Amino acid sequence: MEVVILRNSAEIGGLAADAVCSLLRRRPAGVLGLATGSSPLPIYDELAARCAAGDVSFARARGFTLDEYVGLPADHPERYRTVIDRVFVSRVDFAPDAVAAPDGLATDIPAACARYEAAIREAGGIDLQILGIGTDGHIGFNEPGSSLASRTRIKTLTEQTRLDNARFFDDDPDAVPTHCLTQGLGTIMGARHVVLVATGRGKAEAVHHLVEGSVSAMWPATILQHHPHVTVLVDGAAAQRLQLADYYRETYRMKPAWQEI
Ligand code: F6R
Repeated sequence: MEVVILRNSAEIGGLAADAVCSLLRRRPAGVLGLATGSSPLPIYDELAARCAAGDVSFARARGFTLDEYVGLPADHPERYRTVIDRVFVSRVDFAPDAVAAPDGLATDIPAACARYEAAIREAGGIDLQILGIGTDGHIGFNEPGSSLASRTRIKTLTEQTRLDNARFFDDDPDAVPTHCLTQGLGTIMGARHVVLVATGRGKAEAVHHLVEGSVSAMWPATILQHHPHVTVLVDGAAAQRLQLADYYRETYRMKPAWQEI
């Protein structure tokens, strides 16, 4: 696991965008895993700017979002399908239908989750998965107690996550759906490269567990310690509880010029 401590979210967005652009140069038909929430927004802004400048094209790329609320109407502005279209997909040159999302309105939820897993498999798996992290250590919406081997399925959101996400629902936690569909921890572990971004003091404890804690379903993101290629991009506030922060800074400073994240 590589930990890179950067000055601000603009630097984080730039470095994560470099990784996406490098992938699409090597493999124009690359498959991206797309998180929603606040953390990845600087990445999407940077990629939209680079696409507008002609520095990267998504024309042959594909995407799979991480998760979706259950039951939000198709026209709800906070439905993750709508959010990802607004913040990223509509701002770059993806082909129509190149980005898929779990169907939170499916009548047969287990079948919809199985179809989503099959679609990821048929696309050849995810090359680069962009992730945020919840204050309770969730990735996707794999809340504490999630099976470390889980696949896409329905989950119940914790009260903490509903409080955290109330800011998207007029500050009303009761307006946040109780259930979601999410790629499982096993699904996320299948991505070839995981880039997790976190900023702010509120993420410091979760980042500490992710990087330096014991692997445990209580802090679901810790499963990433078993992944061979994870890059954690954080600002100083999110890095505040890292015991080896100086070592991570030094390692990044000394990194060979030829070595990408
Ligand atoms: C979003 C997702 C969540 C968020 C996490 C952090 O698709 O899967 O795991 O990444 O809740 O959210 P923000 O970035 O809004 O703090």
